[in-house]
Amino acid sequence: MENTIGIIGVGRLGLCLALNLEKSGYTVIAVDKDEQHVNQINAKTLTSPEPQLVSYLKEASNLYTSVNVATLKPAHISVIFICVPTPSLPEGAFDTSFIDSICDQLIALGSVSETKHLVINSTVMPGVCEGLQKKMGAYNYTVSYNPEFIAQGSIIKDQQYPDQVLIGEHSVAIGDKIEAIYKKMCLHTPAYSRMSPTEAEITKIAVNCFLTTKIAFANAIGDMTKAHGGNENKVLKAIGSDRRIGHQFLNYGYGYGGPCLPRDNRALGVAAQKAGVALPLSQATDASNGLHLDFQFEEFMRHHAIDEQVVFEDLAYKKHSDIIEESQKLALATRVAQAGYDVILRDNKEVLSQIKALYGSLFTYETCV
Ligand SMILES: NC(=O)c1ccc[n+]([C@@H]2O[C@H](COP(=O)([O-])OP(=O)(O)OC[C@H]3O[C@@H](n4cnc5c(N)ncnc54)[C@H](O)[C@@H]3O)[C@@H](O)[C@H]2O)c1
Repeated sequence: MENTIGIIGVGRLGLCLALNLEKSGYTVIAVDKDEQHVNQINAKTLTSPEPQLVSYLKEASNLYTSVNVATLKPAHISVIFICVPTPSLPEGAFDTSFIDSICDQLIALGSVSETKHLVINSTVMPGVCEGLQKKMGAYNYTVSYNPEFIAQGSIIKDQQYPDQVLIGEHSVAIGDKIEAIYKKMCLHTPAYSRMSPTEAEITKIAVNCFLTTKIAFANAIGDMTKAHGGNENKVLKAIGSDRRIGHQFLNYGYGYGGPCLPRDNRALGVAAQKAGVALPLSQATDASNGLHLDFQFEEFMRHHAIDEQVVFEDLAYKKHSDIIEESQKLALATRVAQAGYDVILRDNKEVLSQIKALYGSLFTYETCV
């Protein structure tokens, strides 16, 4: 069995995958364009809030990282995962220019004598892998899609114990190769969902849209129950007790945020529109998440006098993360401060420095460990 795997892009997702693969016995040849990051990985000085990442990195003896794509050229590296950013464009689709630029770099190295299999881990729009296959096929590359269902704060564990491994395979033989890699890496037996790359591209964003819809539904029903003077938790617990619905993602709290759920939800709406299919659910869910924030703000105003000093702690979009992107708690704190309240934010220095850069003197900042 092949024992060396390539990875391009060793950021939050790719480095965890690289470390899990290395831990399961593979030699991993990684490439990242950020030289400082590469140096920190090689010197094993990288810090990260991601549990287990630092210790796995310290223990890794078969992970070789550089900025040089040519390190992936040797014939014994046949599978190359691509985990580079795909930022959201203003209308909601994902920008694949980072993946395109990697493909151009690979093409510039010349046609390969032994077929190489690119496995896209980055989240992409339906149809992207099919387009990349057309571009790369001529240079003896295949393109498959293998997105991951992981959460910040538990990436390494989520990769070891996934519910499912989703494989959008170029061919059955390549799907078998990808499945064999996960069989070696996973510490339990997940479901293997194998399909075409386009079907897998739809599945990935549809799963996240389902979750956003469930969260938005729970918060909307909770808001309504509170407005009726009832107990939102009793109502949601009863709804979730129906086994067809279940309790997961059906709690009352802040709206969904972070770097994945909101953008995947929007992207599904755009993908449907491009296919000529009406899917108002995606926009309705987004709007509902915003209306929940309005409800929380009004409730806050009812319970706090304007001359009160108020404190918000743990501002990242979720625990064990330092990501503030689309954090609904931060959004509420911002509204409250903009309404004239004296707002203190308490968090670690990584989180506070990001907020300070965006909001400056709107808040008072208190660093805690
Ligand atoms: N982080 C997550 O929890 C998560 C979850 C699911 C899906 N994803 C998807 O995975 C992809 C990557 O996300 P991430 O959070 O790891 O991003 P990230 O920004 O943390 O890491 C991306 C890495 O790619 C590198 N890179 C960019 N262009 C490159 C190039 N041309 N050549 C080599 N390296 C390059 C960057 O330097 C960076 O280290 C995105 O599409 C994201 O939507 C991420």
